[in-house]
Amino acid sequence: MKEVLIKTEDLCKSFIIGKTGVHVLKNLNIEIYKGDFTVIMGSSGSGKSTLLYSLSTMDNPTSGKVELLGKDISKINEHEAGKIRNKDISFIFQGINLLHDLTVYENITYAAMYDRKNKNEIKSRANELLKELDLYDHKEKYPSEVSGGMQQRVAIARAIINNPSVIFGDEPTGALNSSTGKMVLDLLSDINNKGQSIVMVTHDIKSALRANRILYIKDGRIDGELNLEKYSEKNSKERKERLQTFLDQKSW
Ligand SMILES: Nc1ncnc2c1ncn2[C@@H]1O[C@H](COP(=O)(O)OP(=O)(O)OP(=O)(O)O)[C@@H](O)[C@H]1O
Ligand SMILES: [Mg+2]
Repeated sequence: MKEVLIKTEDLCKSFIIGKTGVHVLKNLNIEIYKGDFTVIMGSSGSGKSTLLYSLSTMDNPTSGKVELLGKDISKINEHEAGKIRNKDISFIFQGINLLHDLTVYENITYAAMYDRKNKNEIKSRANELLKELDLYDHKEKYPSEVSGGMQQRVAIARAIINNPSVIFGDEPTGALNSSTGKMVLDLLSDINNKGQSIVMVTHDIKSALRANRILYIKDGRIDGELNLEKYSEKNSKERKERLQTFLDQKSW
């Protein structure tokens, strides 16, 4: 039996636009497990980002309950959310916000250095990540001096340097070309193999194939799930065909 990482009970999220309420998440009940690479898919506007925000302390649900790492986060305030974010979780979201007066290297290490004793460990992990993400030769440059794809990779290195137990990603490879996208996915798979949990929203089949479990959202609810564990990564053709069939069934 896998341990539960996130559990929702009748999670609802609505937005008021003008005088009308838009009900994006409707009594959603899910469990996400520790150690899994979970991917959330669904058509544009189906509520994937909204769900990810509610699961990760970034936003509070309108009603219902969300438990993350055994703690009820449905009504937590910014202070409590900040504590969880500093310690246990991190984010790779679209729209990169790097600090523009710090170098690539400083951006990656800045927050990690803040409250950690072992600064040498952080430095060596930073150098490792710089090499893995092909950023090493750019470490002294400022964000404005590197490409958008490199900035995205800097944001990814910054998100994982502290070894968070859960990483939330919203289309983390969306802005990357296929070779740098693969680099990032390899890194996420590697981190997941070491035991860290990943919850990632994506449209991209290649990214989704890294998951062991896929949840599909439609009309504000989970409309189905696919377990890819039994399709070994070695037999990638079978895995891909299974996912493709699942998505073809779900998309209409
Ligand atoms: N802050 C907000 N205020 C009002 N409406 C919102 C807000 N955030 C999201 N919505 C609405 O909720 C719905 C779901 O949006 P969401 O961004 O979660 O979709 P998504 O599945 O992530 O889409 P995409 O694949 O295009 O990123 C949309 O109709 C959107 O307009
Ligand atoms: Mg989205």
